[in-house]
Amino acid sequence: MSDTLTLRRPDDWHLHLRDGDMLRAVLPETARHFARAIIMPNLVPPVVTGAQASAYRDRILAALPEGTAFEPLMTLYLAEDTDPEDVAAAHASGLVKAVKLYPAGATTNSASGVSHFDRVRPVLEKMAEIGLPLCVHGEVTASDVDIFDREAVFIDRVLDPIRRATPGLRVVMEHITTSDAVEYARAQGDDLGATITTHHLVINRNHILAGGIKPHYYCLPVAKRESHRLALRAAATSGEERFFLGTDSAPHTDANKLLPCGCAGCFTATNTMSILAHVFEEEGALDRLEGFTSLNGPGFYGLPVNEESLTLRKGESVTYPKQIDTNDGPVTVFDPGFPLSWRVETV
Ligand code: DOR
Ligand code: ZN
Repeated sequence: MSDTLTLRRPDDWHLHLRDGDMLRAVLPETARHFARAIIMPNLVPPVVTGAQASAYRDRILAALPEGTAFEPLMTLYLAEDTDPEDVAAAHASGLVKAVKLYPAGATTNSASGVSHFDRVRPVLEKMAEIGLPLCVHGEVTASDVDIFDREAVFIDRVLDPIRRATPGLRVVMEHITTSDAVEYARAQGDDLGATITTHHLVINRNHILAGGIKPHYYCLPVAKRESHRLALRAAATSGEERFFLGTDSAPHTDANKLLPCGCAGCFTATNTMSILAHVFEEEGALDRLEGFTSLNGPGFYGLPVNEESLTLRKGESVTYPKQIDTNDGPVTVFDPGFPLSWRVETV
């Protein structure tokens, strides 16, 4: 078998870049390998309006290292008072590629998200009309629902009713973590896509909890039992066009991860392509890696595929920094727990 693999340059369809010093530190990690990324809007305060998205886009472009080609694809944070006309204008100008739905309280900086789904109905109807996708953090927040069941319950109680009430709404189920989500996605038409992270292909809940708690493996939605991880691997490597990469790479400083109440997020921007090549090789699906990282996402979003390429070469071993330094303190890079052998050649 050939020890090199050349793909169209990949995109990341779910990425957290933050702002300020953190943005400057983490952006090169993504821009080194990825041509574009869907940028999450959960800043403090959140990116709710078109004007805020435009200003955030300018800050991202200003933070790019000289000579780096990278296109941030902006999103708006759906709040209960979001103005449908502002969303439509931000879409019409080409600035915004999706709107992000966070159930209020579901995850990092989601306090301004949605509690009453009927209040965002006019925005969702406008989005269905203009063809603007809704990216969904799919977890209920009710305290009586077990955290390992929150995705499956969300599909039944929230996602499916919203989709039935809003025909034509294009939806991305973000960072799916269960076989329930895989099965639901497979049963829908081509107006539904699903992103899968790198880390959910690698870890299950034992990795977080057995033999001592591992804060760097804690993210939301939390990794589930092994049968779910296997369903995600099967979906990602299946070649089915509705499944594509969204890393959900989410930097938090070690100081914020290692607290008694630590932040959720795995930082995978640095080594994602090496890890994915390893996973796809294990599944005998290296020929499907390009679909997952470089073709299916643009297909769903109706964007052109990238013309440039990226080459992976298999060698002895490849190492990555354990941490990225930022002015706020170090950010630990996700450790897949196995040696990596696929190196991304500098492009
Ligand atoms: O683990 C996560 N981290 N999940 C999310 O939904 C948000 C993200 C973050 O912003 O840190
Ligand atoms: Zn996220």
